[in-house]
Amino acid sequence: MEIDVLTLFPEWFSWFAAQRPIANALAAGSALRAVSYRDYTPLAGGQVDDTPFGGGPGMVLRVDVVDAALRSLYGRDALELHGQRRIVALTPSGRLLDDALASELAGERAITLLSGRYEGFDERVIDHLATDAVSIGRYVLAGGELAAMVVCDAVMRKLPGALGDCRSAIEESFSPVLGGAPEYPHYTRPASYRGWSVPDVLVSGHHEQIRAWRAAQSAQRGSGGGPGGSLP
Ligand SMILES: C[S@@+](CC[C@H](N)C(=O)[O-])C[C@H]1O[C@@H](n2cnc3c(N)ncnc32)[C@H](O)[C@@H]1O
Repeated sequence: MEIDVLTLFPEWFSWFAAQRPIANALAAGSALRAVSYRDYTPLAGGQVDDTPFGGGPGMVLRVDVVDAALRSLYGRDALELHGQRRIVALTPSGRLLDDALASELAGERAITLLSGRYEGFDERVIDHLATDAVSIGRYVLAGGELAAMVVCDAVMRKLPGALGDCRSAIEESFSPVLGGAPEYPHYTRPASYRGWSVPDVLVSGHHEQIRAWRAAQSAQRGSGGGPGGSLP
């Protein structure tokens, strides 16, 4: 898989690319490239933003700058890229990232993540240049870089070779294997700590009972019950 991130802070991604599971996915053949809008802007002095029409605080990332960056990177008009690669604008009001969307994106050959800053994108970026608008949660970050990293992590950990044990990504919270429910609780040694004991079934050695207990715990969390696992 090939992921390009357009950002004003490409240097943030050097550290990120060296972390697991990203580094593992890259070693297994994926590519992650972070590029600056400023390197492609047609405007003088590296300008990428402008004041909002209608007034108000902050600056807006210009549509012509994003368009020029896409054209320079891929050698063709952004609209011609639709159908060949997902162009994802990161924005607080976009489609909420969940496990299903992460799996969907992990099935793509190529993705471009557009990170905004300041007041965000000129809406024409979202309406015309992007194929998708994605939010990592209903809150506002200062910029799209962390959101891009969240998307990359959630997507790339699903790729072959990203995790030490590929089974980890099959049966986990929100996966189809668990019917979309949160995962069951995990425990490790010591079996008893400050009087807090692990459930007897987990140290019983009865694999069938353990499977049944885990399935029940997951289902209970999915229905909104259970400490640490309740869903809205
Ligand atoms: C300060 S935010 C802009 C917020 C915008 N004025 C609003 O009220 O929706 C700047 C950029 O950060 C990114 N961003 C902030 N919060 C985000 C979120 N929850 N999900 C995805 N991207 C986010 C987007 O790329 C956005 O363009």
